[in-house]
Amino acid sequence: MKFKFLTLDDVSLLNKRVLVRVDINSPIANNSTILETTRIRSILPTLEMLKDSKTVLLAHQSRPGKKDFTSLETHAEVLKSLVDRPVKFIDDIFGTAARNAIKELKNGEILLLENVRFYSEEVAEDIPPEKQAQTIMVRKLTPLFDLFVNDAFAAAHRAQPSLIGFTYTLPTVAGKVMEKELTVLNKIFDPERPAVFIIGGAKVDTKLGILKNILKNGKADKILLGGLLVNVFLEAKGYKIGELNKSCIEKFDSYVDEAKTILKEHGDKIELPVDVAIEKEGKRYEVSCDELNGESRILDIGLDTIVKYSNIIVNSKTVVANGPLGVFEKEEFALGTREVLDAMARCKYFTVVGGGELGAYAEILGISSRIKHLSTGGGATLALLSGEELPVIKALEESAKKFKKKLGVENF
Ligand code: 3PG
Repeated sequence: MKFKFLTLDDVSLLNKRVLVRVDINSPIANNSTILETTRIRSILPTLEMLKDSKTVLLAHQSRPGKKDFTSLETHAEVLKSLVDRPVKFIDDIFGTAARNAIKELKNGEILLLENVRFYSEEVAEDIPPEKQAQTIMVRKLTPLFDLFVNDAFAAAHRAQPSLIGFTYTLPTVAGKVMEKELTVLNKIFDPERPAVFIIGGAKVDTKLGILKNILKNGKADKILLGGLLVNVFLEAKGYKIGELNKSCIEKFDSYVDEAKTILKEHGDKIELPVDVAIEKEGKRYEVSCDELNGESRILDIGLDTIVKYSNIIVNSKTVVANGPLGVFEKEEFALGTREVLDAMARCKYFTVVGGGELGAYAEILGISSRIKHLSTGGGATLALLSGEELPVIKALEESAKKFKKKLGVENF
């Protein structure tokens, strides 16, 4: 596939000092145990290409305020067990300690820096793309490198300094994960119909934006809702979900207003649960949406909904899923997610499971090989397939235009 940006194959890597932005954001329990290592393993082909370079990895884990917003020290331990080369970790991002460790690096060695989201400018929401290059991290690290590799496909929908800032200051190429994901996903840019998108998970803000884009660009025949978006849409339809369910979502009322508008314009495309599973005395309890009285938390889609969603999935030609349908970490509420994944495994056409959590669960269930493409991206995959322009891809293209002469690759 011909891209408008450069890849690792276009440049010389021998003895080069290379900064690589990866996405190894992983499910973590008890602050330190990595439950699933797919994203860490996914970067191995890129590291293999860089075996004769000095490689520094920049990555994030979760977001400020979340329970799994932790150090990357454990990720470094996992990486050490996977590669046959020295892997170092430093609990610094661009301070003197980090810069000295970078300068001391030898060819073949890998250094993982600390969680880049510990640095506040990385997560500041008001820095315009062109100013990301002027952030202190980009200014401090740029002089230490010859090349920037962006391999963080799963974060390609974010415009943050570590993802797009360096593309203005250093020649930039895409890594192997980025290249593989875009090669596969671009094939379904114009999806075969009927096309269904399954949107679950907890990131209501991101998912609502993507949902609007999917509808605006006419990418889906049906959208099946799960996860916390269900609370928003059930409320918008007038069901009694109650304060307990509303309080799980910040800015709930404004999301409900958006949902009402979406339902008015595209109600025929949105499939909502007809029943849900709630928790009563620690047990799963099925209730139809009409019977909701707002007293219990909604933790999964119900059985009738599972049947309805499964039928739609097996009869579709393109199925893209992102985010669990319920609180699948609790065995009693994993049913919806498990059955939807099973229906995808039974679908004979093009199926894509996106995102750390859902992909990891498909692995645990042992059905990942029956899903056509297990994407490392969650929100990024949905955003791409929804027709959104991803900031990281745009930045890769801009960097190629700017640095192609310097790199001696004018005809790419
Ligand atoms: C993901 O898990 O989807 C990526 O790592 C991006 O994370 P974010 O949604 O916190 O930016």
